[in-house]
Amino acid sequence: MSEQASAQKSLTELLPAEAIQKVETWIAKYPAEGKRSAVMGSLMVAQEYNSNYLSEELMDAVADYLEIPHMAAYEVATFYTMYNLEPVGEHVINVCTNISCMLRGSKEIVSRLQERLNIGFGETTTDNKVTLKEVECQGACAGAPMCEIDKIFHENLTPEKVDTIVDGILAKNSKEG
Ligand code: FES
Repeated sequence: MSEQASAQKSLTELLPAEAIQKVETWIAKYPAEGKRSAVMGSLMVAQEYNSNYLSEELMDAVADYLEIPHMAAYEVATFYTMYNLEPVGEHVINVCTNISCMLRGSKEIVSRLQERLNIGFGETTTDNKVTLKEVECQGACAGAPMCEIDKIFHENLTPEKVDTIVDGILAKNSKEG
């Protein structure tokens, strides 16, 4: 680990100035001694500027920038499902399978998504367009069953709604994002 650390690139080498400014905005929200509190926001920024995923090098660089142990960044990144720890497709579908969603039919929703995309959880379609992830409660239980796609919540899902959503994603060309 120490050899790797010497070859470690800094956050300013890994991310553009615009991203660093956003990290600084997160840091400024907290007192100087509370830099650690900026870790969630900083990791989100890092992910956003790295094709939507966090490499180990990037997590280390965020931790170094915030002057916290690498482990503190890993703990956050591995706890919350909004962080992608492997490369993902252009679109990420996060399906909630927690209790409210489960009671209101998430199993059927998952089946339809897997059938339409021909992938399982944690997998990406062969054209690299969609990654499917299983997530815990997203705080939208009143709209269960639900999923989140590219930061937009889709609630009260039915298999038919899933078809419409998947058709919409597959119809998008890559440049539209
Ligand atoms: S259980 Fe699915 S959003 Fe809460």
